[in-house]
Amino acid sequence: MQNEQPFERYPLVPWPRSISPREGYFVWNRATRVVAAGDDSARRVAAVLVERVAAGLGFRPALDGAAGENTIVLRLDADLTEAQGYRLRVDQNSVELVAKTAHGLFYGVQTLVQLLAKAGSELPAVEIEDAPRFAYRGLHLDVARHFYPIAVVKRVIEQMARLKLNVFHWHLTEDQGWRIEIKKYPRLTEVGAWREQTLIGHGQAEPKRYDGVRHGGFYTQAEVREVVQFATDRFVTIVPEIEMPGHALAILAAYPELGCSPGPFKVVGSWGIFEDILCPREETFTFLENVLSEVIELFPGKYVHVGGDEAPKARWKSSEFVQRLKVEQNLRDEDEVQSYFIRRIDRFLASRGKALVGWDEILEGGLSPNATVMSWRGVSGGIDAARQGHDVIMTPTTHCYFDYYQGSPELEPPGIGGFLPLELVYEFEPVPSELNADEARHVIGAQANLWTEYLKQESHLEYMLFPRLFAMSEVTWTPAAAKNYAAFLRRAEPAAVRLEAEGVRVAMRAFEEVRQQRRAV
Ligand code: ACM
Repeated sequence: MQNEQPFERYPLVPWPRSISPREGYFVWNRATRVVAAGDDSARRVAAVLVERVAAGLGFRPALDGAAGENTIVLRLDADLTEAQGYRLRVDQNSVELVAKTAHGLFYGVQTLVQLLAKAGSELPAVEIEDAPRFAYRGLHLDVARHFYPIAVVKRVIEQMARLKLNVFHWHLTEDQGWRIEIKKYPRLTEVGAWREQTLIGHGQAEPKRYDGVRHGGFYTQAEVREVVQFATDRFVTIVPEIEMPGHALAILAAYPELGCSPGPFKVVGSWGIFEDILCPREETFTFLENVLSEVIELFPGKYVHVGGDEAPKARWKSSEFVQRLKVEQNLRDEDEVQSYFIRRIDRFLASRGKALVGWDEILEGGLSPNATVMSWRGVSGGIDAARQGHDVIMTPTTHCYFDYYQGSPELEPPGIGGFLPLELVYEFEPVPSELNADEARHVIGAQANLWTEYLKQESHLEYMLFPRLFAMSEVTWTPAAAKNYAAFLRRAEPAAVRLEAEGVRVAMRAFEEVRQQRRAV
């Protein structure tokens, strides 16, 4: 390893907590055996390793037998402390991967696969002790502005898991479409999943033009179960989002009686914030509880996201019913009506053993007792919530909005606006310096958000995700003190090249300088 830098010899993303370079290589040959020591869960992770490396090695490694010379051992050890951590030792004779749980082993396998990618069948000797900085390492995908079938969703989840991200926030409902089958309310998908047309060009351009093409689709409950299993196999938890009380035109198109005004309503084909929202009547709560009951059955994770963002209060202000409700419930203004709304849903979810997550607007009018806040309009909502003792997930537009441009709009595919180059994602520090240590513990992680108004194709979606998702993986996994953008670029570039070779579209412009330097030496 004479002149090699650690980041060149070990091209890992995310960079581990602690890494000790060692001399030499372990050569993975046809006689090498993969050994799983522990229960069935260790064996299942060992099978993941075998699947992942077979094509690159050119043979299918044997999975069997006992530890010894020329083995790669995956072992569970209950005495380790970090549930998602692992220890990896590679020397010339053998490889040992140890973790407290199968989840940790799975991340050790991702590391092994990345190490192997460098030199075909040689693993550079090393000792690694690794564990995530944050428990919540998320990616959000909007499948409502444009619908993506489950094959695409699975590919995204697979890529997340390889980067040691572990929460997929599935944005399932919007003004532009309802995307999940609810058996009690078939019109949600018969009517709410389809729009007549979609805006062409930028949302701000006038006059507005539409394509005249019907767009839509939804996931059957069987498909949802399939995706949940796929994610579970990769240690990814899914947080479903069912938006309320705003961004609800698809609901209102199907069930107009849930609005505060008579309608009619349409699933829309343009973007923005719409004034027609759900009315806080008993019928609405019954509807939402019935919907959420079906959703809860499908998703085993603890969190259910209920949106709460961008809900204009005009319809509530002009509704006699809402004005009466304010008096009855002693609610000062419409923000407090929204808090009343969210609190009722919070109580319902808590009664079913689930925890509510909402966008930071749920702070307005008072935070519901069990709510976790997703801070998107900057980090100030997250700071407020943490100071009130609530858990927080940081997703500010400034660093986490992957629908933003990565370069000059003139040179990029059409997008919503903004500017979020790779380096800005990488620089993100999820724990604001304003928080003291007790408050900071409430920042459970961070998340990249991908909204899809302008993303009609999977290749464009990939282009927005990569390589920025590499950076988000390091933001959420790697200790802040171990981060280094220049070194990251040198590790991420070969990873990006490999991704391209798999057929994934990657925004390679961030690596231009690194590539020029490499050519120069
Ligand atoms: C959001 O971007 N409206 C949460």
